[in-house]
Amino acid sequence: MKIKKGRVLVVDDDQGIRDQLMWALKDSYEVLLAEDGPSAMEIIREQKPQVIALDISLSPFAQNEEGFEVLRKIMELDPKSKVIMITGNETKHLALKAIKMGAYDYFTKPIDLQEIKVIINRAIYIGKLEQENELLLEKLQAERRFHDIIGSCPQMMKVFDIIGRVATTNATVLIYGQSGTGKELVAKAIHRQSLRKGKSFMPINCGAIPENLLESELFGYEKGAFTGAVGRRKGKFELANGGTIFLDEIAELSLALQVKILRFLQEREIERVGGREAIELDVRILAATNKDLQQAMEKGVFREDLFYRLSVVSIALPTLRERGDDITLLANSFLNQYNKEYGKNIKAFSAGALQELQTYEWPGNVRELENKVKRAVIMTRSNLVTPEDLDLQLSEKSGKLTLRQAKDRLEKKLIREALIKNRANISRSARELDVSRATLYDMLEKHQIGKEDFS
Ligand SMILES: Nc1ncnc2c1ncn2[C@@H]1O[C@H](COP(=O)(O)OP(=O)(O)OP(=O)(O)O)[C@@H](O)[C@H]1O
Ligand SMILES: [Mg+2]
Repeated sequence: MKIKKGRVLVVDDDQGIRDQLMWALKDSYEVLLAEDGPSAMEIIREQKPQVIALDISLSPFAQNEEGFEVLRKIMELDPKSKVIMITGNETKHLALKAIKMGAYDYFTKPIDLQEIKVIINRAIYIGKLEQENELLLEKLQAERRFHDIIGSCPQMMKVFDIIGRVATTNATVLIYGQSGTGKELVAKAIHRQSLRKGKSFMPINCGAIPENLLESELFGYEKGAFTGAVGRRKGKFELANGGTIFLDEIAELSLALQVKILRFLQEREIERVGGREAIELDVRILAATNKDLQQAMEKGVFREDLFYRLSVVSIALPTLRERGDDITLLANSFLNQYNKEYGKNIKAFSAGALQELQTYEWPGNVRELENKVKRAVIMTRSNLVTPEDLDLQLSEKSGKLTLRQAKDRLEKKLIREALIKNRANISRSARELDVSRATLYDMLEKHQIGKEDFS
């Protein structure tokens, strides 16, 4: 069996160096040659070499700028490229600058052929590892989502489980959750997982439309039903026929409309505003609210019979704060998404930023997290997201904490910091925090910190 050779591109304006490297490397690698920047870039785009050996002073007239310029372009194209700089003795001091710009390594002329082979082999090997790692990560992320809903904490697993079980039934589902927890996403997932997926999914926000308009929005109207009703119009229910209607902010429905929805749930038919005939429809209702319906019923503003009809199955979405490590999972996924959207290549969150993501209250839940990450991607100038980029108003929030909460939070923060710094080494972290190892283990348990997260 023929083993595929690694592909190496040599970029040097000196014919002597090109010949020498071709001769030395051709048995072990597939060697490509370029004598200037433009032809190098063309080869890189088309043939994607695993390693690029690049002369730092590509053009003798350009005073070293040309090599850096090509390096910059390569990193722009693919920041994971493995570029090894070729430097002369007089340009050795520039190697550090190149490495800061993302070059992988450098070697000095005159070329030691043994040495360069070792460097190239290692670069190929690391490139391969990175690629495998990326694939693995992608797979992992794919396993941690259900349709577009990302999550791996126990509460979200339970949500996925319920969705999976109710989706193919026609059961009405009531989705509870604070603002930004993903209620609409869950409703869509149920629809897309159901037998109705080919038909329409019709969301309507009951809180956003004035009551007198809402009725005709939902049920449609006949010509002459009211001033301005110049023709017959179908409502959302009819438009959703065969599919799903999603009644968002259901608690905002007036008692009169609640009766009409109830009637549909009992009879499976509606009447248009100003109409006399009953229209039979096949529509599944999903509803959502961030209000406490129990309380609304006690106050007499929400009908108990409708509540029971709606909540055949109910799904309670946890707040973002309750989702533990999902915060990091979501943040990374949004980072990826907005990197792509804005053509950026921000690699990760700094340790400090990750910590703030965990500490912050997230009153706006996932929607707020998404917005903060988006902002950070736009604002960040380096390839790491720092706490400043996230701009979370931590101090304002901590003013509302009790002393005990503040103490707990600080304790947790210090422990996480120590673990990160000491790469999860318990003895060293304990020594730094000036507690015994047993105490530290107790604290990890108390704060539900997994030490494996920091290794
Ligand atoms: N688990 C999740 N994974 C990925 N994205 C999510 C998740 N939860 C929410 N989002 C995103 O957060 C935003 C808010 O979600 P959604 O509109 O479903 O929330 P909501 O509960 O309906 O909010 P609101 O009460 O404000 O209407 C959307 O952009 C959605 O894509
Ligand atoms: Mg919503």
